[in-house]
Amino acid sequence: MSKITVVGAGNVGATVANVLAHKDVVNDVVLLDIVGDLARGKALDSWQQAPIDYYSTRLHGSDDYKDTADSDVVVITAGIPRKPGMSRDDLISTNAKIVTSVTTSILEHSSDPIIIVVSNPLDVMTFAAHQVSGLSSKRVFGMAGILDTGRYRAFLASELNVSPKDIQAVLMGGHGDTMVPLPRYTTVAGIPVTELIDTDKLDAIVERTKKGGGELVKLMGTSAWYAPGAAAAQMVEAIVRDENRIFPCCALLEGEYGINGIFLGVPVKLGINGIEQIIELKLNEEEMALLKTSESHVRQVIEVFEGMNV
Ligand code: NAI
Ligand code: 2OP
Repeated sequence: MSKITVVGAGNVGATVANVLAHKDVVNDVVLLDIVGDLARGKALDSWQQAPIDYYSTRLHGSDDYKDTADSDVVVITAGIPRKPGMSRDDLISTNAKIVTSVTTSILEHSSDPIIIVVSNPLDVMTFAAHQVSGLSSKRVFGMAGILDTGRYRAFLASELNVSPKDIQAVLMGGHGDTMVPLPRYTTVAGIPVTELIDTDKLDAIVERTKKGGGELVKLMGTSAWYAPGAAAAQMVEAIVRDENRIFPCCALLEGEYGINGIFLGVPVKLGINGIEQIIELKLNEEEMALLKTSESHVRQVIEVFEGMNV
């Protein structure tokens, strides 16, 4: 018996709800948007897909937080996406107000939900949601790493002409151009990727991954939604099924990797209680230096957020 709320019925939120319904692992999905008819329309459309695609998950659209009461997991996708030429950080002034007010409204009707933040700039919006929620940091975290590794794995699958199913990878750091893909922890059906691809080609894939979000913004005029929506739905599934899956997620670090007090992408174990464990890899000097660069970048954006006094 699980109830999931997805806040924001735009491109990403509607995809999260739809993918989640297809997984048939929860009873109810409430799709909430400030534009109520948009949420009601998209939820109704997804529900009418149920007899065709064979799922039982009920979907409801709403603009009233009362309908979110007693949610087990809440996915926050509310906020503006970037347009060509913008960085994720340019969204902070609008999205910080949205994410903090959404978090407050959710907690008026659900006392101890797990919150997955998707809105950008991701690492700082997750920090903000955690701060206003007062919830345990094991219950508030962000989605980015599954998407970023998805891009990395897809590029590798194309280059090597293998199934993306066989590519396993870890990626760390902030959700921005300073993210840290980790070739040393990338395998193809258990084979280290470095045995299958030239360094130059691998470096080019790492660089393309870092700018993977921007590539799509240039192509579409707005940011991506299929892979982001599927990534957030995969996190919800791991939680409600208590799968203890290991994914890169944006989590509060309290000394892990020598980093304190900020949210950053790291491998975690996800289960029924949210983050069951943060996994500390033995990074080498070069990898640690890249992580520190990413940390500094996220800290700069946190300072902007703190200066806003939201
Ligand atoms: P969108 O514009 O399609 O949808 C956003 C929705 O939020 C709109 O329907 C809007 O009405 C709603 N909204 C705005 N203020 C609200 C409020 N106060 N309460 C409830 N709903 C509200 O945008 P899209 O493409 O769905 O992206 C959503 C966010 O997710 C953006 O900030 C985007 O940058 C971020 N994103 C993050 C990713 C990640 O990896 N973490 C990946 C893709 C997008
Ligand atoms: C992405 O990486 C916009 O953050 C979003 O596609």
